[in-house]
Amino acid sequence: MTVGRKALCRDSAWGTHEEFAQLYGSYLDAVYRSSSSPVTGSGRWKLIHSVAAEVRKRGVRWLLDCAAGTGFPAFDLAMDTDSLPGLQVHCTDADIEMLTILAWRAKRKHFDVGRLAPPLGTDLGRGVGSMRLDWAQLRDVQQTYDYVMCRGNSLAYANTWGGGRDVTSLPTIAGYLTQIAKKVRPGGFLHVDAPWRLDLPQEDYGRVVSGAASIWEQVTTESHARHWRVDFKLPTGQILKFERFSTLLTILDVKTILDQLGFAETEPFQLQAERPGFGVIIAKRP
Ligand SMILES: C[S@@+](CC[C@H](N)C(=O)[O-])C[C@H]1O[C@@H](n2cnc3c(N)ncnc32)[C@H](O)[C@@H]1O
Repeated sequence: MTVGRKALCRDSAWGTHEEFAQLYGSYLDAVYRSSSSPVTGSGRWKLIHSVAAEVRKRGVRWLLDCAAGTGFPAFDLAMDTDSLPGLQVHCTDADIEMLTILAWRAKRKHFDVGRLAPPLGTDLGRGVGSMRLDWAQLRDVQQTYDYVMCRGNSLAYANTWGGGRDVTSLPTIAGYLTQIAKKVRPGGFLHVDAPWRLDLPQEDYGRVVSGAASIWEQVTTESHARHWRVDFKLPTGQILKFERFSTLLTILDVKTILDQLGFAETEPFQLQAERPGFGVIIAKRP
């Protein structure tokens, strides 16, 4: 979905969702303070290695990222054949703009994007189209997985990632998590994150130069939702502005839902290299 708005002034405009997806990689670099280089081992790559360690520790062979977005970090894990030999990664997401960037990343690395598409009931072809699955549609995926991931505060952005102010209710999110949890094989693991607190400390990262843009970000908590604002200053000097709204969900809400679903090991923790405001649960399906 495209959510463009009319330009505010000559050098500052609300960006479309397509532009947002294209700039998302730069945003990740800024947030994780990384040069995006595996050589430096910093920021974004530290988080990828941190998740890889959790995956390796659990002897995972089949991994599903059901909020895969542009492929961070699922595609990076799929590419990490040295430290994760034999790992099979499937990616799904509801957002075609994000998946388009994932396909572009795969093509650049000469990786067959079809290998990332999960098997569905009928042969729909194995490309970006068959990866486009809402959480409510995960029942169509034929297999279960050793490790299912839904990170990047994705649950809180249920159905608002493309734009819109109408955030999803907690009971609906609980329903989504129930669908996602069914894709974990018995004895397998579910990796979810969410903010530790309702009132995420006012996060203002200031301007961070990253890749193609300098980036400013701010998160504020309002009565009904979190409001995320991010501006990208392009090398041309133009500023593209974006905002997204998310549900007031905490990691303790996620824990309560997982406890009700009978999962074990639901205690949230601070995953190495993850953003400090966000708790992670890697729960075990009995
Ligand atoms: C904050 S982004 C995180 C993307 C990626 N996991 C990351 O860490 O960069 C949230 C993702 O959740 C996806 N999402 C939101 N609602 C969804 C739904 N109902 N079904 C499937 N995916 C959804 C969005 O399309 C988006 O790609």
